[in-house]
Amino acid sequence: MAFLIHNTNHFFIITFIIFSTFYSCYSSTNDTITSSKSLKDNETITSNNTNFKLGFFSPLNSTNRYLGIWYINETNNIWIANRDQPLKDSNGIVTIHKNGNLVILNKENGSIIWSTSISSPNSINSTAQLVDVGNLILSDINSRSTIWDSFTHPADAAVPTMRIASNKATGKNISFVSRKSENDPSSGHYIGSLERLDAPEVFIWYDKRIHWRTGPWNGTVFLGSPRMLTEYLAGWRFDQDKDGTTYLTYDFAVKAMFGILSLTPNGTLKLVEFLNNKEFLSLTVSQNECDFYGKCGPFGNCDISSVPNICSCFKGFEPKNLVEWSSRNWTNGCVRKEGMNLKCEMVKNGSSVVKQDKFLVHPNTKPPDFAERSDVSRDKCRTDCLANCSCLAYAYDPFIRCMYWSSELIDLQKFPTSGVDLFIRVPAELVEKEKGNKSFLIIAIAGGLGAFILVICAYLLWRKWSARHTGRQPRNLITKEQKEMKLDELPLYDFVKLENATNSFHNSNMLGKGGFGPVYKGILEDGQEVAVKRLSKSSGQGIEEFMNEVAVISKLQHRNLVRLLGCCVERGEQMLVYEFMPNKSLDAFLFG
Ligand SMILES: *[C@@H]1O[C@H](CO)[C@@H](O)[C@H](O)[C@H]1NC(C)=O
Ligand SMILES: *[C@@H]1O[C@H](CO)[C@@H](O)[C@H](O)[C@H]1NC(C)=O
Ligand SMILES: *[C@@H]1O[C@H](CO)[C@@H](O)[C@H](O)[C@H]1NC(C)=O
Repeated sequence: MAFLIHNTNHFFIITFIIFSTFYSCYSSTNDTITSSKSLKDNETITSNNTNFKLGFFSPLNSTNRYLGIWYINETNNIWIANRDQPLKDSNGIVTIHKNGNLVILNKENGSIIWSTSISSPNSINSTAQLVDVGNLILSDINSRSTIWDSFTHPADAAVPTMRIASNKATGKNISFVSRKSENDPSSGHYIGSLERLDAPEVFIWYDKRIHWRTGPWNGTVFLGSPRMLTEYLAGWRFDQDKDGTTYLTYDFAVKAMFGILSLTPNGTLKLVEFLNNKEFLSLTVSQNECDFYGKCGPFGNCDISSVPNICSCFKGFEPKNLVEWSSRNWTNGCVRKEGMNLKCEMVKNGSSVVKQDKFLVHPNTKPPDFAERSDVSRDKCRTDCLANCSCLAYAYDPFIRCMYWSSELIDLQKFPTSGVDLFIRVPAELVEKEKGNKSFLIIAIAGGLGAFILVICAYLLWRKWSARHTGRQPRNLITKEQKEMKLDELPLYDFVKLENATNSFHNSNMLGKGGFGPVYKGILEDGQEVAVKRLSKSSGQGIEEFMNEVAVISKLQHRNLVRLLGCCVERGEQMLVYEFMPNKSLDAFLFG
């Protein structure tokens, strides 16, 4: 019985081979090249779904002939074979060599212009087919196994399901090389590759130098390129093969969509999207000065909004070479300020430890290059970093988890949004110095709100005045009901409670004096820390207006401002009670 089945299998396989050979030789399908069916310069083969064609083409303003694959029409090139070996005439012919390679021959003299260059010990019989996703697959006729394909030998363009890939163990990778120029498809200066495989990201190289990096992928965005909006990246996926190859690929959920992502001749990424075979969107990921790798050197932070002085040193650091730095040559970056060495370093040098190091947080920062990674919680990330003297900074992302750095921090950038909270290790004194500045900040904020109150007050007075003088009724900013509702939400504080909380508005409790009156630190009965702003009596506004304004302020409160907890109107005093910000949120605010 077993023998019979075995034989039947053989029969099927043989029938299949005969049939498929027959089919590929004599059928009318025009998507394959075989040893007996080659492709001349004026011919093309077409994928079964008719979306892709393989044939010779000439770029605009050129007579060179290149073998390429294009989508719908020649201008949408997705692959080029002989980009660095152009034919000068139309004598090219594409065929299967007797060693099994797909080759371009010059039919005049039979010389090989280009080859898939697969070394195989024995001559094999192979066939090349252009399949529906735009891949040209060279396979062994007998085993049907793929021996070469265009998707793993790309030019400058990636289409859906194509990969950019890298394997640490084997060193093999799939990378992309830009054109020299729009109309010269020969290999240009820029290379796009997948790097830093612990937390993978895309690098664009200019010759051997890193030109730009996307920052690690966090499942939704590249943390270092917020301008690559997630919507561009729909259907993007990082994964790993059985052989340990890490790759990035993309696809569209909607089958009617197609995209060509290419590395342009000037090193940027460009995505052209098609719907029902018609182009409908073309996007280029813009780059600015801050995107150039290492623009501000080690420990330098780049912020494009502060142009022309885009580089700054982190707190506790200073320019390494002040002369160069002030002439806007930032490449040498920053070093720790005198006396701002980490305590770990002091231990190493044999001094006694006074205080442990601390972290200063820098929100919305592009994660520096050379991140190391570990699968631990946010808290463990911090304590691990603090416990290891080589750890200079850490950041946490729920998807990537703990990233930490033990070499010079390089290629940092400050974004308006996106990026990570980067915690940089500094000596404890520096954090304490920052704390000293906090009370000043609270006053500044409170003072700002005071100014806001004054503006509203002036406005109200003016309304009242103008209403009186034009005989119209003043249109209240807030109706009585709204006001009552608002004031229900905003507690009134007893004068006595605030008096007790602030030690009778004692000078030692004063955080500082703003333009609209002093601000005191207080601790309420329930232990809550507050900042109390006592408005100067000279502001001279009526209670009605004051309450009205408080309601407006509480309604307009921006989440980044210190929270207004309530107010107090008693004994002819007007006071505003703010949340006293705990270190964490104030840090975030300070450096935001
Ligand atoms: C900036 O300084 C570096 C190092 O000193 C130097 O090699 C480089 O040529 C300078 N760049 C410019 C633009 O002057
Ligand atoms: C510790 O020693 C190193 C090298 O010996 C030196 O560069 C560094 O400045 C020293 N640090 C302190 C705080 O003395
Ligand atoms: C500290 O960090 C460095 C760099 O990541 C690592 O090589 C070293 O093993 C760590 N040391 C300890 C004690 O964990």
